[in-house]
Amino acid sequence: MLTNLNDMLHNAYEEHYAVGSFNGYSYETFRGIIEAGRKAGNAPIIAAFGAKYLSNMTLKNAYSIIASIAEECPNQQICIHLDHCKDRSVIIQAIRAGFGSVMFDGSALPFGENVERTKEICDIAHACGVSVEAELGSLQAGMNSHEGEVTDREIYTNPEQAKEFVEKTGVDALAVSIGTVHGMYKGVPKVRTDILSEINNEVGIPLVLHGGSGTPEQTIRACIKNGISKINVNTEISMAAVECAAGKIVERPHLSVLSFTVERCVEETVLKYIRFFKEGNNN
Ligand code: 13P
Repeated sequence: MLTNLNDMLHNAYEEHYAVGSFNGYSYETFRGIIEAGRKAGNAPIIAAFGAKYLSNMTLKNAYSIIASIAEECPNQQICIHLDHCKDRSVIIQAIRAGFGSVMFDGSALPFGENVERTKEICDIAHACGVSVEAELGSLQAGMNSHEGEVTDREIYTNPEQAKEFVEKTGVDALAVSIGTVHGMYKGVPKVRTDILSEINNEVGIPLVLHGGSGTPEQTIRACIKNGISKINVNTEISMAAVECAAGKIVERPHLSVLSFTVERCVEETVLKYIRFFKEGNNN
């Protein structure tokens, strides 16, 4: 069953668990992501397609692939989400294509402009029943990342600004910068759950953690306790699938085998995350 973020995240926020948002770029990756949700007892799942991957497929292709797989899973909540998009016209195309949720990434803009442009997207999306995620602050780039830019600097989200941002834009979920990185960490992760706790006290809406890959379990539990309800994972899934595929290509060099191997490996990695996110901070 296709939904938007609000249908999933409010419950997660209240009950202190997180919904995984996993990036796909092909039939195999989306199928692996959704199958993992089914195997985890029809866990709600966010199938994310980043604007960065428009060279892999169009928005309509992404929507059709995910929606047709979702038809086979009537008891599973699935949100088709546009990840990291700076372009208003691409966001409108995603809404037209049927996406239930979009992320406007104005994190590199001055605060006032980020507010103004996010609000405009919220007005358009909400009129169509589509939820909006926005970002305040900036994540650093780690290793093997496809997100953001290599030059991205770490700028923590300011809690008071976050309050003003949420009030002025009416955004449904806010991505925060608290020390996670896009990609794998170059050193020991230093995640500022103290800043997260302040943000959570100020805004009271579901918060989003980008850069889930490689973040220690204890840190993730502390984040979920402090308002994180959606966790994005991309790099680690891709790295695991590439490793499986590299082994298989030597053993059985046929594309159909490779395609199946990728799907299974994505499913396995995503399943591990879903189980852990569902436990939330209850362990
Ligand atoms: P990672 O690639 O670090 O898991 O981050 C994913 C992400 O934040 C997608 O928006």
